[in-house]
Amino acid sequence: MEQAPVQAIAEEAEAATIAVRIALRDRLQSGRLELPLLPEVAGQVMAACSDEACDVRRLAQLIQRDQAMAANLLRLGNSALYAPPVPIVSLQQAVSRLGMKKIREIALIISCQTRVFAAKDERVRGLFRHALAAAAFAQEIARLRRWNVEEAFLCGLLHDVGKPVLLHTIADLQRSVGICLSAEGRELILKEGHAEVGATLVESWKLPARLRETILFHHNPTQAPTCAQTAMMTHLADEIAKWALAVEVEPDAHIRKLPVLGSLNIYPEELDGILAKREQVQTAVRSIA
Ligand SMILES: [Fe+2]
Ligand SMILES: [Fe+2]
Repeated sequence: MEQAPVQAIAEEAEAATIAVRIALRDRLQSGRLELPLLPEVAGQVMAACSDEACDVRRLAQLIQRDQAMAANLLRLGNSALYAPPVPIVSLQQAVSRLGMKKIREIALIISCQTRVFAAKDERVRGLFRHALAAAAFAQEIARLRRWNVEEAFLCGLLHDVGKPVLLHTIADLQRSVGICLSAEGRELILKEGHAEVGATLVESWKLPARLRETILFHHNPTQAPTCAQTAMMTHLADEIAKWALAVEVEPDAHIRKLPVLGSLNIYPEELDGILAKREQVQTAVRSIA
């Protein structure tokens, strides 16, 4: 008996999703997944910022070697995200006024913007805006709980970094293996694979293991073996960022019901304070992406 066309199409779409899933697993396990490289100077800047012997002058000299990095650093340092009281006009000023931790943070934002989220399509740009908003909210939560603010920022910034990498990989697999994935199939692969791909990327960038674990568990934070609290904070920041950048103003009731609020000991009035930063975060995000 001949199959109904609708059923045949659904089976074909499912077969394509399975084929991409297998090809992706194969690339991940064999280390053949193509990962964006961390720009050389950004890697050196991050290493220098963690080196206690490094001074402001040496750091400025290092950044100077990459003109695009230097220009972007001034652009970001003067953006609404850092909102300097007086404009920063030189690299030396940027380094001495912002400090090592902020310079490391900016070097990573620039690396993300120019390498990982560089595709010109609106979807990838939206992912970058979401990353920045999650970073800003993670920082607010960390400030409230008196946790490491810089680490929180990086967790927010990089939690979904696997998504643009996967979008690129899926497009490549479709071309090379000749598979055509349905929109639903692509979303499913992104949903189930982005945390692992993101964790693999930050490992290849030699970022801290805590960051890798947080990314891996940001959708099921209570299962993170050594940094559940950081993963929960990132999970909350992720949800708030989605709400804050939604095109239509959405009610925040679902955020108020998140179980992580209790685990993080965040009271309703404290959450009000974080949610009230919505416009400020929107302005900061728009100033960069
Ligand atoms: Fe995610
Ligand atoms: Fe997210």
